[in-house]
Amino acid sequence: MSKQFDVIVIGGGPGGYIAAIRAAQLGFHTACIDEWKNSKGGPAPGGTCTNVGCIPSKALLQSSEHFEHAGKHFADHGIEVKGLSLQLDKMLARKDQVVKQNNDGILFLFKKNKISFFHGRGSFAKAGEGGYEIKVGDESLVGKHIILATGSNARALQGAPFDEENILSNDGALRIQGVPKKLGLIGSGVIGLEMGSVWRRLGAEVTALEALPTFLGAVDEQVAREAKKAFDKQGLKIELGVKVGEIQNGKKGVSVAWTNSRGEAQTLEFDKLIVSIGRVPNTIGLNPQAVGLKLDERGAILVDDECRTNLPNVWAVGDVVRGPMLAHKAEEEGVAVAERIAGQHGHVNFNTIPWVIYTSPEIAWVGQTEQQLKAAGVKYKAGTFPFVANGRARALGDTTGMVKFLADAGSDEILGVHIVGPMASELISEAVVAMEFRASAEDIARICHAHPSLSEATKEAALAVDKRTLNF
Ligand code: FAD
Ligand code: NAI
Repeated sequence: MSKQFDVIVIGGGPGGYIAAIRAAQLGFHTACIDEWKNSKGGPAPGGTCTNVGCIPSKALLQSSEHFEHAGKHFADHGIEVKGLSLQLDKMLARKDQVVKQNNDGILFLFKKNKISFFHGRGSFAKAGEGGYEIKVGDESLVGKHIILATGSNARALQGAPFDEENILSNDGALRIQGVPKKLGLIGSGVIGLEMGSVWRRLGAEVTALEALPTFLGAVDEQVAREAKKAFDKQGLKIELGVKVGEIQNGKKGVSVAWTNSRGEAQTLEFDKLIVSIGRVPNTIGLNPQAVGLKLDERGAILVDDECRTNLPNVWAVGDVVRGPMLAHKAEEEGVAVAERIAGQHGHVNFNTIPWVIYTSPEIAWVGQTEQQLKAAGVKYKAGTFPFVANGRARALGDTTGMVKFLADAGSDEILGVHIVGPMASELISEAVVAMEFRASAEDIARICHAHPSLSEATKEAALAVDKRTLNF
C-alpha cells in the first residue's frame, strides 16, 4: 500500500529541506527523501552544503584562520604565543561536530514541521492518476507534486579519477589526516581558493594550476586584481593559463604534467591533489526515464524560469538545474516552488543573488561587474573606498581591500557592489537589500552608519560615486 502525500521532495540539501519546510508551513502533507549517510550509516540530511560543502569548509576556514592569527598576527596586538601547535585531529573532529549539529538541526526541523522523512534513495517508478509513484527502498510513496533537489557532484578530471586518498574532491579535501607538505590544486575557482587557503594556513605549500588566463574571471577585474595581490603575498601560488596534461597517481603522491602560459612543459610532484574544476548536476538513481523527465545536454534537469520541468506538477530546484550553484539560490528556489504549488507568486530575483568567497580577504559581490557593464554599453559611475582609510579596519588590524559601487550614470541606481576585505560576507547584505529595493548610491550615502564600523566603508564608497568621500 502506497503512502500518499501532497508534496514529495527528493533530496534533503538546502534546496530540498527548505522546500519541504515551506510546503509544510503552507499546509501540505509533505515528505522529504534523502540518501546521505553519516559515518555510522545513519541519516545526515543537509546535502553537499551541510556534509561536504558550505558548513565544514567554513568550520575549517575559521579554525585555520585562528591558527594563522595566533602564529602570525597576535604579536602585532602585543600578545605573545609560545609553543603554538596544531592538533589537526581535534580541528577535524570539531568540524565533524559542527556538521552533526546541522544534520541534527534539520532532523529536528522535519519533526517540528510534521514532515515525513525517508532515509534512502528516491526513484521514479511511474506516473499515475493520483500522482507520481516514488520508490524508496521497499517503500512506495505517491505524491501529487514532486520537487527534485538532487544537487550536484564534483567534476573529475579525465584520466584522474578521485580516490579521495591522493586525488581529492571537496569531500577528501575536507578530511586530509595530516597537513600535506605540497598540495596541488587543479582550478583556482571558489573551492580551490577556499580549500587552498585552509591548508596553506595550516602549513602546506600550495600551488594552483588554472586553465583560464585571467584570475577569477566572473569577479570584477579590479577586485580580482586586489585579491590576487593579497594571495600572492600570502604565498598561495596561482599559475594562470595552464594546460594540465598527464596525471600519475602513485604510492608517494601525484605527479602532474602541465604546460605554462608561455607554452613550456612542466612537471610538479604533490603529496595531495585537489581537483576543483566545477560540479555536475546529479540525477544518479532518480530514474528520470520512467516518467519521461527531460534533462539538458549537461545532465541538468530542464526547467523554465519558475522551476517547472517538462512534466506536470514536477519541479526542480538548486544545483540540479541551471543557474549558480549556491546554497542560498537553492533555498530561494525551494521556497518559491512551494509557494507556486500553493497558488502564490513565488519569486527569485537572480539579479540580487550575492556571491561570497570565504578566503582572507573575503570577496563578495552582488549585481553587475564593471566589465559586464562595459560589454553591455551601460553608462555607469564607479566609486571605491579602501579599508586602509576605515577606522574599524585599522583597529582590527586588517586593512586589505576596498568597497566598490557601480551606479547608473543617469538614475544613480546601484547596479553592482563589489567588496574585497574583512567581513565582506556580512557587508554585502546591505548592498543586496539596497539593490532589491532599487536604491540609488545616494540613498546609501545618506543613511547613518554606526561608527566605527566596516560598514562605513560601504557608505563612503557610495559617496565616492559622487566624488565626495569624507575620509579619503
Ligand atoms: P545538495 O546540497 O547537493 O543536496 C542534494 C541532496 O540530495 C543530497 O543530500 C543527496 O544525497 C540527495 N540525493 C540526491 N539524489 C537523491 C535521490 N535519488 N534520493 C534521495 N536523495 C538524493 N554554497 C554557498 O552558497 N555558500 C558556500 O559557502 C558554499 N560552500 C561550498 C563549499 C564546497 C566545498 C562545495 C562543494 C559547495 C559549496 N557551496 C556553497 C555550494 C552548495 O553546497 C550547493 O550549491 C548546495 O548544496 C546545493 O543545494 P541542493 O539542495 O541543490 O543540493
Ligand atoms: P568553479 O567554477 O568556481 O572553479 C573552477 C575553476 O577550474 C575555474 O576557474 C575553471 O577555469 C578551472 N578549470 C576548469 N577546468 C580546468 C582544467 N582542466 N584545468 C585547470 N583549470 C580548470 O568551481 P569549483 O571551485 O569546483 O566550485 C564549484 C561550485 O561550488 C562553485 O562554482 C560554486 O557554485 C560552489 N561553491 C561555492 C562556494 C561559496 O559560495 N563560497 C564555495 C565553494 C563552492
